[in-house]
Parts: sequence; structure tokens; C-alpha cells
Amino acid sequence: MSTRPEIDDHSGTETTGHTWDGIKELNTPLPRWWMTIWLATIVISVIYMVFMPSWPLPWADTYVKGIRNYSERATFEADMVKLAASRGPDELRLANTALVDVENDPELLNFAMAAGKSAFGDNCATCHGSGGVGTIGYPALVDDVWLWGGSLEDIKHTITHGIRGASDDTRFSEMPAFGRDEVLTKDEINDLVEYVVSLSGRDADAAAIGRATVLFEDNCSFCHGETAQGMRELGAPNLTDAEWLFGGDRAAIAETITNSRNGVMPTWQGRLEPWAIDALSVYVHSLGGGE
Ligand code: HEC
Ligand code: HEC
Repeated sequence: MSTRPEIDDHSGTETTGHTWDGIKELNTPLPRWWMTIWLATIVISVIYMVFMPSWPLPWADTYVKGIRNYSERATFEADMVKLAASRGPDELRLANTALVDVENDPELLNFAMAAGKSAFGDNCATCHGSGGVGTIGYPALVDDVWLWGGSLEDIKHTITHGIRGASDDTRFSEMPAFGRDEVLTKDEINDLVEYVVSLSGRDADAAAIGRATVLFEDNCSFCHGETAQGMRELGAPNLTDAEWLFGGDRAAIAETITNSRNGVMPTWQGRLEPWAIDALSVYVHSLGGGE
């Protein structure tokens, strides 16, 4: 075997000595720029390993920490401590200030609005929509239509205890499922649908309205009021306006009367800090319809 590599006549490059069907394989060296970068990455990785965390040591439940002992988690925790320290006084002040006074304290109001907006995005927007625009079954918080009340204290009570929620002080009422529980017949419900449609000033079957007047008085006015304008103590909506929580077409109204809805708003006490509930109350109150 020859020890000296064969040089290809045409290219002047060494061959590997392999031949297939008379074709020889050249042993072309890697380009210099490629080798330089490759060696540089090795050198850099060694330097990195000396200074920065690198190898896991699973048997010791730790890792090689490197001379700089850098940890993203520690940096994050230190940042959070700093944030809490900078916010702490505001949180404390908010929790100890009566809600009506917050609006007269520009600095505190600023903090409450920013914290409320962020907490709303994290906790409330999934149901109430971004910015509180609402959707079917989840009331808009930007308008001045309130089921349970739109004062700062009303809103705070709703958020703290929820509606049909888990708290002992939760807001509670239960519209019966008039159809499902056979309190009313299908015909009676159809008549009531016409009656409810007419309440918001729309055309409806006059004979049906006539038959439903007494039905409404007997079954509905206890909660929705004699004039059907709603009752806040029971969270019963005004049926004479054009605002509908569950939809105002005949099918939606029939569904509400037949099966009832009884929407649930979670209880936030225990899940959010008291100052965060205060911030949310101020924020929601400011959305447009605060009373
Ligand atoms: C799981 C869905 C859900 C989430 C999350 C939720 N809500 Fe609600 N919320 C509801 C429903 C449903 C109602 C209406 C219940 C009813 O039928 O009376 C409601 C009602 C309200 C009301 C009363 C409106 C009125 O007209 O009186 C306020 C205020 C409110 N929510 C604020 C909030 C805030 C603030 C948050 C976040 C901390 C939040 N909600 C999170 C479902 C939700
Ligand atoms: C015990 C109280 C109570 C009684 C009685 C009651 N309702 Fe309701 N009703 C409510 C409450 C509370 C709501 C809204 C909250 C929910 O269900 O989530 C509601 C909602 C409605 C809605 C939906 C309104 C909307 O904005 O989408 C309609 C329509 C309605 N009721 C009609 C009736 C009719 C018709 C009767 C009589 C046959 C009746 N209700 C009896 C408490 C009552």
C-alpha cells in the first residue's frame, strides 16, 4: 500500500484512494473560513461553560453554575421583590382608602386604573370581553344598564361575592324554568313571548298579549316588577329596553322562559387580593356606566 496520497491530475487535489467505476473520490479540505468559525464556536463554548451555568448534574439535583453564578429565576425573583416593594405602598393605600375617595386622589386613581385594567384582562375579559363589551350571557360593563347596581359599592359587592357564586353573601335569585318544570304550558309561554316582545315597543300578536297580561302579573312581576322595568335586589333585567342579556328575538325569549338561564359570575374573594378587587371596582366603574 502506498503511504503517499495520490494527487488528482485534473484538480491537483489529493484523492481518498476510493474508486467507484473508475471515478476517484477527491479529499477536498474544508474551506478555511468554515474551519475558523467551527474552531471559534468550540473556543467560545468552553469560555461560556467556565462563566455561565452549563452541565446538569441530575444525581446531585443541581448543575454546574459557572463563575458568574447567573440564574434567570433569581433575577426574576429579585425583580418581583423590587416591583412588590415599589407597589406595596400603593396597594396598602388603596386597600385602606374608601372607594369614593379614590377618585379624588389622582395618584391613587392612576394606580387603581392601571392595576384594574391589567387585572381585568387577566381575570374578567374571558367572559366579559376585552374592555368589558360583553356578549350573549355575559353582561356588557361599559354601558349604564346594571342588573345588580352600578355604584362603586354595588360593583365591589358583585366582584367580591359573585352572582350565584360560592360565597355566603353571593348575589342570588333564581328565575324558574317555567317550561321544563311544567309551571306553564307551551301555549302560555308562546303568549308570554309575544307579551315580552311588545314590552320593548315591537309589534306582537295582540290576542296573545291580551291573554298573557294576567300570566305576567302572576308569574313574572314579582321579580321583573309591575311595569317590567326590572328589580335590582333580584338581578332581574328590565324587559322594556332594547338591551338583552340572552337575546331579544322570540326564540331566545322562549328559551329563557322555558329553561331559565341563571348565569354564574364567580366569587373573587380569596382568589384576588382585596386591593385588586378595589382596583377592579374603580376600573369597571369608570368604563362608562358608573353610578
Ligand atoms: C366565568 C365567567 C365570568 C367571569 C370570569 C367574570 N364574570 Fe362577571 N359576570 C358573569 C356573568 C354570567 C354575569 C351576569 C350574571 C347574571 O346573570 O346576573 C356577570 C356579572 C358581572 C357584574 C354585574 C353586572 C351588572 O349588570 O350588575 C359585574 C360588575 C362583573 N360581572 C364584573 C366582573 C369582573 C370585574 C370580573 C373579573 C374579576 C368578572 N366579572 C369575571 C360572568 C363572569
Ligand atoms: C325569581 C325571579 C324571577 C321570576 C319569577 C322571573 N324572572 Fe325572568 N329573570 C330573572 C333573572 C334574575 C334574570 C336574569 C339573570 C339570569 O337568569 O342569569 C331573568 C331574565 C329574564 C329574561 C332575559 C332578559 C334578557 O335581557 O335577556 C326574560 C326574557 C325573562 N326573564 C322573562 C321572564 C318572564 C316572562 C317571567 C314570567 C313567566 C319571568 N322572567 C319570571 C328573574 C326572574
